[in-house]
Amino acid sequence: MDFQEFKNKKEEHLVGGGIEKQKQRKQKGKMNACERMYSLFDSKSFVELDPFVTHECFDFGMERKKILGDGVVTGYGLINSRLAYAFSHDFTVFGGSLSLPFAHKVCKIMDLALKQGVPIIGINDSGGARIQEGIASLAGYAEIFHRNVKASGVVPQISLIMGPCAGGAVYSPAITDFIIMTKSSFMFVTGPEVVKEVTKENVSFNDLGGAQIHNEKSGVAHFVAEDEQECFRILHTLLSFIPSNNLEIPPRIDTKDDPLRENDELNFFLPSSHTKPYDMESLIRKVIDNGDFLEVQKYWARNIIIGFARLDGNSIGIVANNPEVLAGVLDINSCDKATRFVRFCDCFNIPLVALVDVPGFLPGTDQEWGGIIRHGAKLLYAFSEATVPKLTVIIRKAYGGAYCVMNSKHIGADYNFAWPSAEIAVMGPEGACNIIFKTEIANSSKPNEKKVELVEQYRAKFSNPYIAASKGYIDDVIEPIETRKRLISALHSIYRKREEGPRRKHGNIPM
Ligand code: HXC
Repeated sequence: MDFQEFKNKKEEHLVGGGIEKQKQRKQKGKMNACERMYSLFDSKSFVELDPFVTHECFDFGMERKKILGDGVVTGYGLINSRLAYAFSHDFTVFGGSLSLPFAHKVCKIMDLALKQGVPIIGINDSGGARIQEGIASLAGYAEIFHRNVKASGVVPQISLIMGPCAGGAVYSPAITDFIIMTKSSFMFVTGPEVVKEVTKENVSFNDLGGAQIHNEKSGVAHFVAEDEQECFRILHTLLSFIPSNNLEIPPRIDTKDDPLRENDELNFFLPSSHTKPYDMESLIRKVIDNGDFLEVQKYWARNIIIGFARLDGNSIGIVANNPEVLAGVLDINSCDKATRFVRFCDCFNIPLVALVDVPGFLPGTDQEWGGIIRHGAKLLYAFSEATVPKLTVIIRKAYGGAYCVMNSKHIGADYNFAWPSAEIAVMGPEGACNIIFKTEIANSSKPNEKKVELVEQYRAKFSNPYIAASKGYIDDVIEPIETRKRLISALHSIYRKREEGPRRKHGNIPM
């Protein structure tokens, strides 16, 4: 048996694209593909597959440039003692670009993860399709995309972006559930040079597809990490809220936070004025276990807040309007953001909690021409089709169509509560009076004073939770300090909920 050959090959595999390239990466503070796997998985648990695979390309002198592993490290291991499969691009090998054998390595671990029902983690650092391979590389990508789609909603798929990612290397992450970008990474369909050639636009890597751009402007990414270690920390926290597959429930964690705990501050939390903003995130933290909230897409569409938390140790997904940004209205981006999150939670048996303070949909040509009708309908559809336990607390405003959309009783929420401060009405008092008392105000000798008087009358009559509660649309009006214990009690009473829809291939959510 020739152990020497075996050892030589193993060593050759470890240096990937060569010692010099590895050194250059170290100088940039980047880990190599294998080191990233060791950081991802629990100590000594990573097992590599397919280290001897090479490409099969004979063009452009490629037959003389075969590198063991062919630019991707694949395998499985434990993350916080739970099994997961992962791949890690090696940028030192042809810029981490994808050949057909490379794609087949990735497909193999995706298939294994699907059979086991465990998460697929992708560590992406790649220039996209390997140009020398041509169509074979595109075929490889398409095989990966097909698996991404098959795995969607069955096992969690999470993408870490740890370097420049272009072309096919961004489309696979785009199908996955969450994207975490390090601050020094990029994502674009085509890089700045191609952009310059085609559109004559001069744009830097960062401005085109940097982490901040995708976290703030495009909404492509869900988290930004200071460095690679933080990227893994975010991933580990995220996974702690999520089950391994769609047939399991999320792991329960003993948070030691008293389920009956009341928070006295909540009774005095809202500003005295109906129109003044307040800190919804701080409200969320006062209600959930130990104030631990993993906010998702923190920098994009900030008029809605989404994220994971726990109530009595059970994972929940929170969707909350944010009165501090655009008064918490629903617009195109916030609807898209919340829709995908609601659907993720529904796929993976994570109960939903909506905290509502919404004055309506954002008016204007920008929104109408951009299709707010279509985008708003998505969120309505998502809450409506979700079959996980669904709870709602109306904190202040719940007006018009936005009331219906934000997990109302009528679209299948299980428990709907309201604070005494809730204003549940077809629209805000000013808007309503302008329409129904138009003539009365116009004919008045003091139209401004008349309007104030009518608005006050309308507010007193309609801007409260009791009309909705009298019809059973609200299950109870609760004291703010008891929000936590009422939500926990409601969650316990509905946790085993099973809801079957009609048999069909799939619905047709407006896109
Ligand atoms: C083959 C590639 C490559 C690729 C990079 N390299 N991208 N080799 N195919 N797609 C090689 C380079 O030749 C170089 O090799 C090494 O990787 C490092 O690349 P650099 O350009 O020196 O690195 P950097 O300056 O950091 O820039 C990284 C980059 C840039 C931004 C990723 O390389 C780039 O723009 N690459 C092309 C990106 C692209 O257009 N991809 C789209 C492919 S089409 P040496 O030997 O010099 O070290 C596609 C379609 C899929 O993906 C469709 C799906 C729907």
